[in-house]
Amino acid sequence: MPNLFSPYTLKGVTLRNRIVMSPMTMYRSTDGKMDDFHVSYLGARAAGGFGLVFPEQVAITPDGRTSTTCSGIWKDDQIEGHKRVTDTIKMFGGVAAIQLGHTGRKGSEVPKYKTIDGYPGGSQLPPDHPQGWTCRAPSAIPYGGDHSFPVHELTKDEIKDLYKSYADAALRAVDAGYEWLEMHYAHGYLGASFFSPLANQRTDEYGGSLENRTRFHLEALDAVREVWPAEYPLTMRLGADDLNPDGTQFEDAITAIGWMKEHGLDLADISLGFNTDDMRNNPMGKQAFMLSRAERLKSEVDIPIATSWNLGVPEKADEVIQSGIIDLAFLGRPALSNPHWPVWAARELGYDNPFELVPDDWRWWLENFRGHEPSIGLPAAADTALDEESAA
Ligand SMILES: Cc1cc2nc3c(=O)[nH]c(=O)nc-3n(C[C@H](O)[C@H](O)[C@H](O)COP(=O)(O)O)c2cc1C
Repeated sequence: MPNLFSPYTLKGVTLRNRIVMSPMTMYRSTDGKMDDFHVSYLGARAAGGFGLVFPEQVAITPDGRTSTTCSGIWKDDQIEGHKRVTDTIKMFGGVAAIQLGHTGRKGSEVPKYKTIDGYPGGSQLPPDHPQGWTCRAPSAIPYGGDHSFPVHELTKDEIKDLYKSYADAALRAVDAGYEWLEMHYAHGYLGASFFSPLANQRTDEYGGSLENRTRFHLEALDAVREVWPAEYPLTMRLGADDLNPDGTQFEDAITAIGWMKEHGLDLADISLGFNTDDMRNNPMGKQAFMLSRAERLKSEVDIPIATSWNLGVPEKADEVIQSGIIDLAFLGRPALSNPHWPVWAARELGYDNPFELVPDDWRWWLENFRGHEPSIGLPAAADTALDEESAA
């Protein structure tokens, strides 16, 4: 039975364990580029033992960013920064993954922790602001609240151009050294809004029926599948439930994931739709709250499954992998709070050798000085404690 620390192979890629650093937007890029910040921050997580390391949602077009300080891969001169990141992740034994996305009607935002010209963090900047733009989405329906500026409804030609942007981005991702690609179809961004009746009210072949609301996802997958190497996993994060009677329903997500599998999807990472703030029975505070949905998906579609959300307690993360419900545990905030979460979790869970996850040169020091436990924050071994007592 696999546990959190069992290797995992998907297509031609093997991860050293089942622990994934979930993509997290950092608002730290200039002109969409990754730099020293990303190299050090992501390298630290790879050195801390994460098996698969995602930087953040990486935009396929400039208007696909959350803010002008988000990263992208829509032009060649952005490849070099990504390459530095992937080289560093690999140096520390991790596999580098990219999440390609477009923020749709949730773009043109102020970074969460900043205020710009009186616009608070997380709110939208108007299209005429120097750091704002007109968001594009399936329908001209703004998200609402502090995201209420007019939205441009994508034409069919513009949708086709986005497929080309996805494919070009995937090719650049190969050059940049990524070996795993996730399409971001969740969290109220473009894919999520095509899927949700709350955001998609088109009357053409991209709106209405479930088949039509999934067309964008399948066509974008096809475009990427065409260029993305067959030996590397192609996965997606789906906003599988809006928790609202008028939004995305989980039953529809199950059907759509079955279709995506037929289009070459290798793994489904399920999350919420976030197409509305009006979520009923909001589960955000509950531990591992996506698990029941993952279990249902597993019983209906034969595809590897991953999820995130409140899996940071090691016993729980280990349990959900051992149960076989999910294949990989995505950790977001735990990776921010503890770059060595995997090593710490292995220690907490009593695995034989937690330090096999750290780089060789550190491991030597950590493994060869038994009796020096207090130096690394562990309780003193029993015999050392006795020595202390007799010395006192
Ligand atoms: C700072 C921050 C930025 C995030 N950015 C992204 C992102 O770029 N793409 C994405 O799919 N999810 C994003 N998320 C969601 C996380 O990937 C993850 O799914 C979520 O935090 C739940 O996992 P957790 O409970 O382990 O934090 C972000 C979360 C945080 C905390």
